[in-house]
Amino acid sequence: MAGNITLTIIKPDAFGAGKAGKVLAHLEQQGFTVRAARVMHLTQAQAGEFYGVHRERPFYGSLVSFMTSGPCMPMILEKADAVASLRTAIGATDPAQADEGTVRKLFAESKERNAIHASDSDENAERESRFFFSESDVLAAK
Ligand code: CMP
Repeated sequence: MAGNITLTIIKPDAFGAGKAGKVLAHLEQQGFTVRAARVMHLTQAQAGEFYGVHRERPFYGSLVSFMTSGPCMPMILEKADAVASLRTAIGATDPAQADEGTVRKLFAESKERNAIHASDSDENAERESRFFFSESDVLAAK
């Protein structure tokens, strides 16, 4: 059965442009509930580890640089079938290809500066939640 929590990050482009409140309001409107949240400025080591799966990709260095360029806002969100539901709500990686009404269509600048991250599986939602939040925060969110 699909899980009820997922991990999102309002990225430095959207956070720095003062769009965090609008992004969150949009997600709450779609039925997501915030179960944990923090504001933090990622270090190079943290961003590099979080996006380690992309280490061999040509955009990795630029992605790490972008993700450490300013504060971001990781959150654990709850909704039925959270992972799939949030992926639909945020839209395609490239905002030019994102559906109307999605977070990226509304708020993203480019394929890299794309406003928001969302876990791609229940397993990664759990792993990524533990990356940003304490064991007790994650347990309380589930
Ligand atoms: P995200 O969903 O957080 O997962 C990996 C991130 O890498 C992605 O959002 C974008 O910010 C970035 N990304 C993915 N593909 C590209 C690309 N082709 N060029 C630049 N950045 C990319």
